[in-house]
Amino acid sequence: MTDFVYRNGRLHAEGVDLTRIAESVGTPVYVYAAGGIERRYREYADALAGTDAMVCYAMKANDNQAVLSLLRNLGAGADTVSEGEIRRALAAGFDPKKIVYSGVGKSADEMGFALSAGIGEFNVESDHEVDLLADVARQMGKRAKIAVRINPDVDPKTHAKITTGKKGNKFGIDFDQAMGVFKRAAAHPSLEPVGVASHIGSQITNLDPYRAAFSRMVDLVKALRAEGIAISVLDVGGGLGVGYTGEDPPSVADYVAVARDAAAEAGCKLVLEPGRRIVAEAGVLLTRVLFVKEGSAKTFVIVDGAMNDLIRPTLYEAHHPIVPITEPKPGTAKRRVDVVGPICESGDFFAKERELGPVGAGDILAITHAGAYGAVMASSYNARRLTPEVLVRGQQFSVVRPRPSYDELIGRDRVPDWV
Ligand code: LLP
Repeated sequence: MTDFVYRNGRLHAEGVDLTRIAESVGTPVYVYAAGGIERRYREYADALAGTDAMVCYAMKANDNQAVLSLLRNLGAGADTVSEGEIRRALAAGFDPKKIVYSGVGKSADEMGFALSAGIGEFNVESDHEVDLLADVARQMGKRAKIAVRINPDVDPKTHAKITTGKKGNKFGIDFDQAMGVFKRAAAHPSLEPVGVASHIGSQITNLDPYRAAFSRMVDLVKALRAEGIAISVLDVGGGLGVGYTGEDPPSVADYVAVARDAAAEAGCKLVLEPGRRIVAEAGVLLTRVLFVKEGSAKTFVIVDGAMNDLIRPTLYEAHHPIVPITEPKPGTAKRRVDVVGPICESGDFFAKERELGPVGAGDILAITHAGAYGAVMASSYNARRLTPEVLVRGQQFSVVRPRPSYDELIGRDRVPDWV
């Protein structure tokens, strides 16, 4: 965790003492290190130097306009899955031609919006979607560039809820049906089939599933060419994992080498859609201890953050390291505790049976690796306000999404006069 280090006994994000942020913005709060996000994007860009390639950041991982702006400044494209994400990408100044629009269920309105924005590539996932997009484009007098997302039926060996490239997952088109869908697309004058796409899952920590998926994609590109369908883009999706529990995922360079080889063999431009790997480790969620409750069976550290702020432990049994922002003295004894939030569900926890140093009311904890799929998945369940976000660069920090007021939270509702 190189973006967050102890200095003079206090955890810092780059040059900023996290205590300062917790005190001035309050907790819970997400804190992102700008340099860490940029460094991880550059790992991709550097590994791809000299290759015809485009890195489309999967903004579902973290769609804050400030984060998007950092990546746009470095030349990134954006992988999007909704009109809202396309609008966010455009608002952050992304070149529409560098926007890829993925997703298993696009509405006609969303397609129309994307076409009018002039996005670069639609990744389509079903024969009906092909026909609908062809209709929408024809009515608008446009020609849509499409990649067909295939389901290569490989097991990425990750959590079931984020496995997307196995038979039986809702994503992509079965490999054996792909040729038919391409032919159907090629018959529509308003569609231009340019690519083969796949995304096999997320938090993948081994390159073998990628090798298997890419080789199926390359086979398909060759078969399509033999049928006269000229494919020029290989979109390999995202999914490269990070080390939440000290696991040792492959380096970006090693992963990119596998993708590059596939694109070279296919004679295609490479599109990559990394999300988590760019932002996860560059973010922490700060939360304050409210009480330590000694039960007869367990000790509960009750904090002010909850599953509405960071749902990954609840939803995926995900492990996020938790560290105090005041550096523990070497050799301090640890205790086994559950770190839980105030929400009225037993599923509301950040850690179970976790070894933690002594903590007391008022202490602030940092839940690390929280830059991806953290704030974006937050909700206002239990009428809790959405979690604010802070971006740090060097010695400075700014609130990049403020905590809404209670008036904003309640004022969104309307009570009809017939109630
Ligand atoms: N491309 C497509 C088409 C995707 O569906 C995804 C993620 C990505 C790229 C980026 O994958 P990444 O590089 O971030 O692994 N909420 C879950 C993760 C859901 C991932 C969904 N798709 C979690 O917190 O683990």
